[in-house]
Amino acid sequence: MDGTLTLLGLESSCDDTAAAVVRHVPGQAGAILSSVVLGQTALHAAFGGVVPEIAARAHAERMDLAVEQALAEAGLGLRDLDGIAVTSGPGLIGGVLAGVMCARGLAAATGLPLIGVNHLAGHALTPRLTDGLVFPYLMLLVSGGHCQVLLVEGAEAFHRLGGTIDDAPGEAFDKVAKLLGLPQPGGPAVEAEAAMGDPARFALPRPLLDRAGCDLSFSGLKTAVLRLRDARVAAEGGLRLQDRRDLCAGFQAAVADVLAEKTRRALEQTGVPVLAVAGGVAANGTIRARLQAVATAAGARFLAPPLRLCTDNGAMIAWAGIERLRAGVAPGTDLVARPRWPLDGAAPAMIGSGKRGAKA
Ligand code: KG4
Ligand code: ZN
Repeated sequence: MDGTLTLLGLESSCDDTAAAVVRHVPGQAGAILSSVVLGQTALHAAFGGVVPEIAARAHAERMDLAVEQALAEAGLGLRDLDGIAVTSGPGLIGGVLAGVMCARGLAAATGLPLIGVNHLAGHALTPRLTDGLVFPYLMLLVSGGHCQVLLVEGAEAFHRLGGTIDDAPGEAFDKVAKLLGLPQPGGPAVEAEAAMGDPARFALPRPLLDRAGCDLSFSGLKTAVLRLRDARVAAEGGLRLQDRRDLCAGFQAAVADVLAEKTRRALEQTGVPVLAVAGGVAANGTIRARLQAVATAAGARFLAPPLRLCTDNGAMIAWAGIERLRAGVAPGTDLVARPRWPLDGAAPAMIGSGKRGAKA
């Protein structure tokens, strides 16, 4: 036994049914042997957001399919694995339960060791899988369901420097898109409109910049866009194309300003040499460029894993499972499905919890 670990990872905490096989040979980089993500966008499209019951049923129906596909693409059978890792929280509880039940079934049938993984740890540890990052580093997690600034000090050691007190930034992009009649997911649509707009035309707030620390807020920003939209409609009898572009540009600039400043503070406070980002919002060109500039100004390296590994996937769960086992966590740990599961148990609870479920 050379210490090689090959794990199957299962993810079902929001609206992606995902399974992947990851192998780690000690002293080498991790290898993703397969990664299957079965999305649910079409199932939720008519409802303007993720419907937890529909998501849970789809996970229960398709997780075995995702597993079968992941094993086939890796060219492996269950008996070639060394273990199974599964997201056991935080997230929409029905979906998390569907994943945990599937993983428990597989483990019972095969006798393979099974370990529960925190979904946020999966995101936070991804740069170690993709780039072999060493601890410590700073992780800005910005998606439709998450918004956290984390100091990652070890596979089991996370310190939350800040997080959203209401909406996640992706959620705010989605809501603003809805307000302005743009399609979902809102992020790419708002970014495309913003490219043709004037970010300085409308005065939008920079929430919580006047408050010390790294906590963030996006709900008021969305409401400010709503008020400005209504004012334009009242004044002009409708929303002109250029108004919409300028509102998108103004909103995006405000989000970029807030994320940049809070990240700058986190880099200053910790002095760590690397800033990594994850989550769908990290795909935004304006935001990404600002974060890169903040890192450069602080003398830190900037790292963004490829987008398919920034968004929800099974490979990050398999990898986090490998990291946990290597850190000495016993198989069988954390197999109770949890809607909330803060990465940093010592940090005060966040109150933010939107349509995509709990954020910490
Ligand atoms: O990480 P992700 O795929 O899924 C979860 O939220 O779990 O992130 C999706 C979120 C959506 O809210 C989407 O609107 C946002 O990321 N997003 C963007 C962009 N692309 C995706 N937000 C801003 N700009 C983008 N280009
Ligand atoms: Zn996620």
